[in-house]
Amino acid sequence: EDLDLGGHPHYMAKEIQEQPESVERIIRGRLDDRFGVARLDGLNLTPRELRGFARVKILGCGSAYYVGQIGATMIEELARIPADAEAASEFRYRNPIIEADTLYIAVSQSGETIDTAFAVEEIKRKGGRVVGLVNVVGSTIARACEGGVYLHAGPEIAVASTKALTNMAVGFALIALALGRVRDLSNADGQRIIDAIRALPGQIKSILDFEPEIAEHAKTVAAAKSLFFVGRVRGYPVAREGAQKFKEISYRHAEAYQTSELKHGPLALIDEELPTVAVVPRDELTERNLAAVQQIKARGGAVLAVTHEGVDFGELGVPRIVVPKTEPELDPILLTIPLQLLAYHAALTLGYDIDKPRNLAKSVTVE
Ligand code: G6P
Repeated sequence: EDLDLGGHPHYMAKEIQEQPESVERIIRGRLDDRFGVARLDGLNLTPRELRGFARVKILGCGSAYYVGQIGATMIEELARIPADAEAASEFRYRNPIIEADTLYIAVSQSGETIDTAFAVEEIKRKGGRVVGLVNVVGSTIARACEGGVYLHAGPEIAVASTKALTNMAVGFALIALALGRVRDLSNADGQRIIDAIRALPGQIKSILDFEPEIAEHAKTVAAAKSLFFVGRVRGYPVAREGAQKFKEISYRHAEAYQTSELKHGPLALIDEELPTVAVVPRDELTERNLAAVQQIKARGGAVLAVTHEGVDFGELGVPRIVVPKTEPELDPILLTIPLQLLAYHAALTLGYDIDKPRNLAKSVTVE
């Protein structure tokens, strides 16, 4: 693969634009229309073994951890298995209980993050079953795991991860399908998700076409010293990742919160100086999300919504980034994309070193 910038001003810009093709690569050969299932031979797990897991625990660091949270929600929704994500950097320090009927998933772009690698060792030492969701083939974590799903995102150079994260989220959708179809997920529902996965590259492309508009929004938010990113349930890890990206490259304080928790404390901070980026998908929580947006606006706070067509903001006067709708379980994959562009253009406006932000490394290989 070509490692030069190919006409893009930064690697981050290049990697954002590569996403339609990199998503094509992770799904290629893995969608089985006959049975509405994902074929993940690399997991090295038989259908019987897949059926035997009672829980899923996802481990990763930084953005990989936040995407792990997106993945946990997908697995719970599609496979109805209790699933959660945890920061790998904390895991082995709390003497974790390793269970034989838990499927552990280590998620890492580089496959070299030491905190994640140590979590894998801890799981193996105590007899747990761990698979990887890793980009770099043959990396430390990929080799340490007993099986896995390679992301096939291609080389990622920018410290702020974009295309690898999107492929992680798609990879979790594939794993959720595989786990769901040996349980209660119907053939028809499996096919519904497969069709939606196939449509993702085209939908991502249509989001990227809105880059000039998102760049305008970025100029506005870059002017704030501090901002909130809020979402709930499926939207909450989207907000966390959005805030993370913003912090990493624009050096602005960005705090992620569950929209539902705003009223339990941080609403006190809202004023004209503190804008909020609100994730408001068209789903069963839209009305509740809109009520929270209304509360923010009533306190003088500016809101930028990342939302879907058909969400009625009425008289709230909220600027919007409209993302194409997919199946509800997969919405987080697409809702995350404009937040990459928002962070990128904010950093560009502020004139920072986008590909190599201060104090950060692409992969942290020491504790
Ligand atoms: C570093 C990077 C983050 C990244 C994290 C995990 O802290 O600065 O952007 O999300 O490592 O990296 P990995 O290679 O394990 O996905």
